[in-house]
Amino acid sequence: MTKRLIEEWLPIAELGEESMRERRSMTALPPIYYLHVWWARRPLVASRAEVLVSLLPADADRKTFMHMLGIHGDPVAAKKAMEKVKRTGIRIDNPYGYDRAFQYCPSEKEEFWLLEEMGKLGIEHPTVLDPTAGGGAIPFEALRLGCTTYANDINPVAVLVQKATYEWPAKFGRAVLDEYQRLVPVFRKRLEERLSTYFPQHQAPDQLDCTYLWARTIHCPYCAGKVPLAPNWKLAPDGTGVKVVPHLGDGPGDASRQCSFEIVGSARLQSEGTVKDGDATCPFPDCGRVIDGDQVKVQAQAGDMGEQLFSVVYKRRLPTEYTKNREAQEREVGARLPRTSPRR
Ligand SMILES: C[S@@+](CC[C@H](N)C(=O)[O-])C[C@H]1O[C@@H](n2cnc3c(N)ncnc32)[C@H](O)[C@@H]1O
Ligand SMILES: [Zn+2]
Repeated sequence: MTKRLIEEWLPIAELGEESMRERRSMTALPPIYYLHVWWARRPLVASRAEVLVSLLPADADRKTFMHMLGIHGDPVAAKKAMEKVKRTGIRIDNPYGYDRAFQYCPSEKEEFWLLEEMGKLGIEHPTVLDPTAGGGAIPFEALRLGCTTYANDINPVAVLVQKATYEWPAKFGRAVLDEYQRLVPVFRKRLEERLSTYFPQHQAPDQLDCTYLWARTIHCPYCAGKVPLAPNWKLAPDGTGVKVVPHLGDGPGDASRQCSFEIVGSARLQSEGTVKDGDATCPFPDCGRVIDGDQVKVQAQAGDMGEQLFSVVYKRRLPTEYTKNREAQEREVGARLPRTSPRR
């Protein structure tokens, strides 16, 4: 079999930086991310690179490869320039000098180049199969490269995500968007009818609760305290987070021992995480023992894990004098404590 490009070369530093860049803004991720959450989506630029570098012969032109990826400059130099900005405080406009790579759609000429290169390997048409495609980043990019693409997943939710991400748009074009927009209010109305009792919006329309943050819980095998599990208690990059307040009850052995929570405004005031590398740490100061990961698993497998609501993230409308007419800037995000006492 003829050697492929991936066996000789992979511009890992450039791909690493361009992948970081793709994910840097949580409000401007690639559009397919907003269709449905998937927990293990790979960056699009890395997915495109993976497909292309595996198909192309080892002697394929590397510059054309980079251009087809959408890397139209030197992301490694741009990263260095940004580090300098951080050190010196002297701002520069766009250190990359080109759009984020995933925004670039390979041209027809480039698709033709891929066909020609495949032809050199005796392959008439590039075909890609992703048997465990999850959120579909790899097939999405394979399609954008013009490949015949097959995707699969054991999880029906992933399959539905895949269909909506590329199969229906490829088959029906714009009609999918029209149908989506028609269905969104219908779906929202049905959802609201069924769920509004459980998620009341006490302060609507000025403040809307958006996300309920729950921690799984176990019972400490040494002191019987209910331990909320979280690797850290950070809620936002500005230092907003959670302080865990353990209530000791009658001391170790009292099964009513549990924690309440406070929202704090600086990282210094946040509690230490209660789980690391699978092991938990009991937050009750009169115990404080490490709970081995195997013990955590035993409780989970026995169905003894509980859950505790520790915070609700909301969006609040800013007073008009602070707004700049853009929807994104009209609401600020904050966190509050749950209103009711924690469930046992
Ligand atoms: C890491 S995710 C794939 C992510 C994907 N490459 C992306 O970038 O969006 C792995 C996927 O493999 C699927 N999977 C695991 N075992 C499988 C099996 N036996 N057959 C098919 N799919 C499977 C899982 O449901 C999951 O969606
Ligand atoms: Zn304990």
